[in-house]
Amino acid sequence: MPILTRRNLLKASAVVGTYGIGVGIAGKFGMAEAAPEPQLLKAVKTQATLTDAGVTKNIMTWGDAGGDAGMPPVLRMTKGKPYAARLTNALDEPTTIHWHGLRIPNKMDGVPFMTQPYVYTGDSFDYAFSPPDAGTFWYHPHCNTLTQMGQGMTGVIVVDDPADPTFDSEVVLNLRDWRLGGDGQFIAAFRPRDAAKTGTYGTVRTANWHQEPQYDAPAGGLIRLRIAVTDVTRVFSLKMEGAEATVIAIDGNPVPKRFPLDLLLIGPGQRLDLAVRMPDSEGAVATLEDIRGTTPKTIARLRSVGASLKRNVGDLAALAENPVPKADLSSAEKISVTLSATAESAPVDSICGTLGYSFWAINKVTWAGDTADPTAPLAELKLGKSYILQLENLTPHVHPIHLHGMSFTVLSSSAGEVMPFVSDTYLIQSGESVELAFVADNLGDWLLHCHIIEHQKTGMTSYVRVV
Ligand code: C2O
Ligand code: CU
Repeated sequence: MPILTRRNLLKASAVVGTYGIGVGIAGKFGMAEAAPEPQLLKAVKTQATLTDAGVTKNIMTWGDAGGDAGMPPVLRMTKGKPYAARLTNALDEPTTIHWHGLRIPNKMDGVPFMTQPYVYTGDSFDYAFSPPDAGTFWYHPHCNTLTQMGQGMTGVIVVDDPADPTFDSEVVLNLRDWRLGGDGQFIAAFRPRDAAKTGTYGTVRTANWHQEPQYDAPAGGLIRLRIAVTDVTRVFSLKMEGAEATVIAIDGNPVPKRFPLDLLLIGPGQRLDLAVRMPDSEGAVATLEDIRGTTPKTIARLRSVGASLKRNVGDLAALAENPVPKADLSSAEKISVTLSATAESAPVDSICGTLGYSFWAINKVTWAGDTADPTAPLAELKLGKSYILQLENLTPHVHPIHLHGMSFTVLSSSAGEVMPFVSDTYLIQSGESVELAFVADNLGDWLLHCHIIEHQKTGMTSYVRVV
């Protein structure tokens, strides 16, 4: 699917000059804060064992300098502290890294054309920023994404807050599917008729690149279970069998009020932090399940080990709020964002990958593809001003709508009462209208798109400009 024609390459290289070079790590921080050693993230093609059918070829991931390349590493950062990563591209196509949910400067956002040049084969790009919020986030390329993400490039980020309450253990789950045939090899990434509906589902489900993995945890202990849905298509309805599970954060941000996990819908791009109280008896197993669809599916298991710690979820101190600015609702300007289907406009060739179809639109405009000359922004926002996105879904499908660079607070929904949670990705139901308030406090062009990648790549993408 990557379309690497000479003509495209020439076109693309012509625009590279407008960005200048990647931000140097040394110049990025003040004198006081020493620049950290960059974490090496080498984009590579490799193979992995995902099924009993044997080794799957053409896996894409990030390895480290030592050449180890399995599941993308869980990146650990600390709230408010400088972090640096050096992306080196050993793939045979361009790539970038987007840090999903991190409110960082535009130049670090990883969107080709919009915020940085492509990182071509053999080239490097230095990312450096200080994540302002603690929580569970994730990272992925923003180029030829159905292929690069579909074939493995989705990793989890944990931003620690040293002031967080202490858990007895932590389990991080990277949930995703793979589109593999019976021989364990990749099959066509999508079917057009499915892209025009829910998106094309994978055939093999995994958590941390394993089918139904089991993790040991202290009996009677409190586990912080960090879940990231990094799949390109699948929406989950999550439930925990055999243990008490309490939702403590959604999309990285602590929830205003904790509540028990019960069939919570969570879509591509979203994260969930749970406090799981393990069963008291040694050997007892708790099961995380997806009950969306006809038969419940096991995602992962947690097994109690040792003598019970007899912990109580009520003893867990609250997570500190993230410093996301609160919108001023009295002065906030409203922006309509309507999601619909379309039959119009042909997609433009792009070395960041086109699926060759247009099925979706935002405010009746279909994203033509990632080009140097995109359509006009959805809205031009003034730095520091408050806005309310009035998002409306006229389609018969759910869409996880993601805003880059800024986090919003959910104000109200036509679907019923909503908790005012803070997020970067809202899973909007068919027929739903929702109000999302935020402060435009981050300069630059910020994408707004559906995180079902086939929807994103067949029109359901736009952007806002903060000036
Ligand atoms: Cu997860 Cu455009 O992003
Ligand atoms: Cu969608």
